[in-house]
Formats: sequence, C-alpha cells, structure tokens
Amino acid sequence: MDDDLTPRRAADSEVELVQLMTILDANNVGNVHGGSIMKLVDTAAGLAAAKHSRGLVVTAAMDEMSFIEPVYVGDLVTIKAMVNDAGRTSMEVGVRVEAENTVSGRKVHSSSAYLVFVALDADGKPRPVPPVLVATEEERQRQHEAKLRRENRMARGAAIKDARGRHEVQETREDHQRG
Ligand SMILES: CC(C)(COP(=O)(O)OP(=O)(O)OC[C@H]1O[C@@H](n2cnc3c(N)ncnc32)[C@H](O)[C@@H]1OP(=O)(O)O)[C@@H](O)C(=O)NCCC(=O)NCCS
Repeated sequence: MDDDLTPRRAADSEVELVQLMTILDANNVGNVHGGSIMKLVDTAAGLAAAKHSRGLVVTAAMDEMSFIEPVYVGDLVTIKAMVNDAGRTSMEVGVRVEAENTVSGRKVHSSSAYLVFVALDADGKPRPVPPVLVATEEERQRQHEAKLRRENRMARGAAIKDARGRHEVQETREDHQRG
C-alpha cells in the first residue's frame, strides 16, 4: 500500500482487458449474458482504481451501465477503464466496452459504465487517495462530468434519506394514533 497523496495522472490508471466470449458466457437467447460483461467491467474498473490508489479497493457503486449493442458468443471483447476523478477516499472509474467479430470485422461500442471504488487501509477502513491530474481536453471533460455525477449521487442519496425519514415519522404518528 502506498500512502503518497501526490496527484497522479488519469492516464496512468488506464487498464485494458481483452477476452474471447465463449458458450459459457451465453444467456438463454444465445447472446452474451449481461452479467458476464458486468463482471469484466467491475474487474477492469477495480484494477484502474487499484493502480491509482496503489492499494486495495472495493466496489461501492456501479451506475449508468448501458448496453448499447448485443455481444455474441465468439466476439472478442475489449474493456477499457480509467479513473475519471477522485474524492477523498473514493474514485470514479469510466469504462468502455467494445465487441469485435474477428471473422467479419464488425466492431461495436457495446457498453459504457461508471463505477465508484473506495480505497481501504489495512483495517478495512476508507483510506485517502491522491487527486487525479488531467492532461488532455477529453480527460478534463471526463473529470468535470464525474464531479457532476458525484453531486447527483449525493443529492439523490440525501433526498432518499430525507423521504425515508419523513415516512418513518408518519408511521410512528400512525402507530401512536392506533394506540
Ligand atoms: C464502500 C464502503 C467501504 C464505504 O463505507 P462507508 O462507511 O460508507 O464509508 P464513508 O461514509 O466514509 O464513505 C467513504 C467514501 O465512499 C463513498 N461512498 C460510500 N457509499 C457510496 C455509494 N453507495 N456510492 C458512491 N460512493 C459511496 C463516500 O462518498 C466516500 O467518498 P469520499 O471519501 O471520496 O468523499 C462500504 O460501504 C463497504 O464496505 N461496502 C461493501 C463493498 C463491497 O464489498 N463491494 C463488493 C461487493 S460484492
């Protein structure tokens, strides 16, 4: 584990996984099961977060996973992951999935996803991570969008907590009225 909090370049976290989809990845329709792709996405994203934080990480959230095009058995799948931005102990990783038919040459952007990982110390507690340095306009844009998604996640979490709190207060009032 490396506790150095000197900012690190987004590009240094980049990970690329390539895997052939086999019959073991098939769903009932005969295409590749979404869960097989999700597992590869989680693995690639976790490696990018581990590279950035230089230590152990766990998946805290996976959101905005889109399936744009089907992936077929026999396709070669390439998963590209990179840390977009870092909070205090968490990192958002952006992932792009491409599928290629090596016989026909058909190549599609099949999925995109954003995941949040949290770095852990030796006691399993969240551990501070270095800020992300961006070097290109594309990385700057990704970092900006990651900050917007983080704000949205926090606002959504707070709104749900608030609504549940109001619901519990209402239930307690009704319990009191029933005696
Ligand atoms: C992720 C985990 C370590 C966070 O623990 P916690 O006690 O909520 O920690 P904190 O409240 O201190 O939050 C730590 C960071 O995680 C972020 N975080 C926590 N839950 C989150 C969620 N659901 N979505 C996005 N970010 C989250 C916080 O925003 C914070 O980020 P910051 O330090 O960059 O501001 C804890 O929930 C956990 O262990 N989850 C299980 C992880 C796991 O097992 N994953 C594999 C599933 S099979």
